[in-house]
Amino acid sequence: MADKEGNIIAKDYGIGIKPPAQTFHVKGMGHAEWGMKTRLSQIFAADGRTIMLAFDHGYIMGSTAGLERLDLVIPQLMKYADCLMATRGALRACVPPDCRKAIALRCTADNSVLKDDMSHGVIGVGIEDAIRMNASCMAVQCFVGADGELGSLNNLVRTVDAGERYGIPVLGVVAVGKEMERTTRYFALATRLLSELGAHIIKTYYCENFEQITAACPVPIVIAGGKKVPELDALQMAYRAISEGAAGVDMGRNVLQAESPVAMLKAIRMVIHEGAKPEEAYKAYQLMKED
Ligand code: 5RP
Repeated sequence: MADKEGNIIAKDYGIGIKPPAQTFHVKGMGHAEWGMKTRLSQIFAADGRTIMLAFDHGYIMGSTAGLERLDLVIPQLMKYADCLMATRGALRACVPPDCRKAIALRCTADNSVLKDDMSHGVIGVGIEDAIRMNASCMAVQCFVGADGELGSLNNLVRTVDAGERYGIPVLGVVAVGKEMERTTRYFALATRLLSELGAHIIKTYYCENFEQITAACPVPIVIAGGKKVPELDALQMAYRAISEGAAGVDMGRNVLQAESPVAMLKAIRMVIHEGAKPEEAYKAYQLMKED
């Protein structure tokens, strides 16, 4: 029953004070609806940036260096990431369900590395499982320019349709097949194309003239790490990417195969969120890896 006595009469309506302007810290998402925005806010910190830790390699590569024991590796790394990118199998196996990190759920199933052409993927996780697993976004791999281009774009638009129905953003992943070029022209085309088809976040590789790519892409771009390079090079790439308009990184092997993955992730955090120069973060990495 309503409590008439305890119901203090409201009077402070702030008449004449304008409500604060509605702003949203994720590029291009000001007009998205609330559910979508709250999930994007799980992924992107208040500074508009994110550190995604990718450990979904097993779905095409099987057991990879650094990821032999998901159950031992991931729990010690996850607290230093903003978002965990993984398959549903890996999540169930090694991420405790009380984990409060954003989840980028790998939602395509693609050919394994044993096949020459990996571009003929299918949707491997439906929207119901993405909801059940409380995904912050659904990742769909797209092969622009490859044999399976249209099929992979179909996977993307079907997933965007489903995501729009339930407020779950889609991460469009620009895949580069063995024979495909890694030029500014290619990445500019692929990133823009995926965003126009409705992807809310784009993952792509860093390349020359990267600022042209981020400028022409209406949604946030995160860079993939790619094959393992020396730690300082990886930190420099992350620094250049965010200086040229990227919203963060989605790195796997350059963290997982570092001499000290925890120290590497902490060093990446210094670059992405704390304004550190790569050399400074690398110095800190060297000290941290001795701890
Ligand atoms: C493949 C992916 C993977 O998540 C990514 O390749 C893993 O990260 P890294 O390349 O940094 O090891 O999106 O397209």
